[in-house]
Amino acid sequence: MKMLVTGAAGFIGANFIHYTLKHRPEYELTVLDLLTYAGDESTLESVRDKITFVKGDICDKELVDKLVGGNDIVVHFAAESHNDNSLRNPWPFIQTNIVGTATILEAVRKHEKRLHHISTDEVYGDLELDDPAKFTETTPYNPSSPYSSSKASSDLLVKAWVRSFGVKATISNCSNNYGPYQHIEKFIPRQITNILSGVKPKLYGKGENVRDWIHVDDHNAAVHTILDKGKIGELYLIGANGEQNNKTVIEMILELMGKDKSDYEHVNDRPGHDMRYAIDNSKIVRELGWQPQYTDLRAGLEATIEWYTENNDWWQAKKAEVEAAYAKQGQ
Ligand code: NAD
Ligand code: TYD
Repeated sequence: MKMLVTGAAGFIGANFIHYTLKHRPEYELTVLDLLTYAGDESTLESVRDKITFVKGDICDKELVDKLVGGNDIVVHFAAESHNDNSLRNPWPFIQTNIVGTATILEAVRKHEKRLHHISTDEVYGDLELDDPAKFTETTPYNPSSPYSSSKASSDLLVKAWVRSFGVKATISNCSNNYGPYQHIEKFIPRQITNILSGVKPKLYGKGENVRDWIHVDDHNAAVHTILDKGKIGELYLIGANGEQNNKTVIEMILELMGKDKSDYEHVNDRPGHDMRYAIDNSKIVRELGWQPQYTDLRAGLEATIEWYTENNDWWQAKKAEVEAAYAKQGQ
């Protein structure tokens, strides 16, 4: 199996490479990544001799055409992925998430290759805190931010290429991931690295917003399950029943790091901040037999804290710039 993986110098894609080499050592992996601010080649250093790494843009038609043509399957992670950045400047989101996905689609159409498109539950907008409902595969798209609307756009392109051109694609929409190698602009690693840097964790608004946390390895195991058993043209939601509000997660991190659980700061809320995400995972569980393995968030956070503590070199150089950008917004 020759597999092209886009965006694999980023958080989930890099974990996907490590996971795949461990569980499917026979796969031949090629990575296409532009190494934006979010990409870090050092994350793949330990497996550099086992993969082919190509630095390049998913919007580069010629390059994408050549790489797609030389592989059997494309797993497409590459994206601009952070909501707060999309509020500062939406243009890279429009370019990479929409134009980039269209570029991949045209190449898989031409070469008749299989595609798996990685997306987010944020395409569905948000739920009220007291709503008993969760997102399902039939929830209407209603994205809130430039990030989530650009991901929704990319999903719609995939659906259209499946229907109009018979492209052999599947889509997965996953909830919030956590684990090693996540960029420190994101909620959980930002708070861990704040505490490690002697700075108080930063909670947006009142912290009532709920996210449905899943360990990155559970996400990637689900992606492999879809690659193995998923039905072409179908969309699968991936989630591990991990709903927690942000205040509780910050308190858990503080406690696990030996601090007083009230030792955090309230900062400016995110404009248009989605209140709650929640995944009904029954389709992938029932139809494909996938089950999450890391269902204890406290234990998962403990391991993640240990990873950031031991891998100071991986994140330290990025910290000042990330915090300077947040500080400009009172966050
Ligand atoms: P990330 O920001 O950590 O990594 C993105 C990677 O894509 C980086 O390595 C970056 O260099 C690369 N990239 C960006 N623009 C590119 C371009 N034009 N050409 C080639 N490479 C480019 O993101 P992540 O958190 O690992 O997310 C990966 C995917 O999973 C995204 O599609 C995201 O929407 C989706 N997703 C993320 C989460 C989450 O919680 N992080 C949840 C559900 C879905
Ligand atoms: P984030 O990791 O940016 O993921 P997403 O916006 O895709 O859900 O944020 C997760 C939640 O944490 C979200 O409700 C915003 C909140 N948040 C904070 O309270 N403080 C922070 O410093 C950050 C980065 C996020």
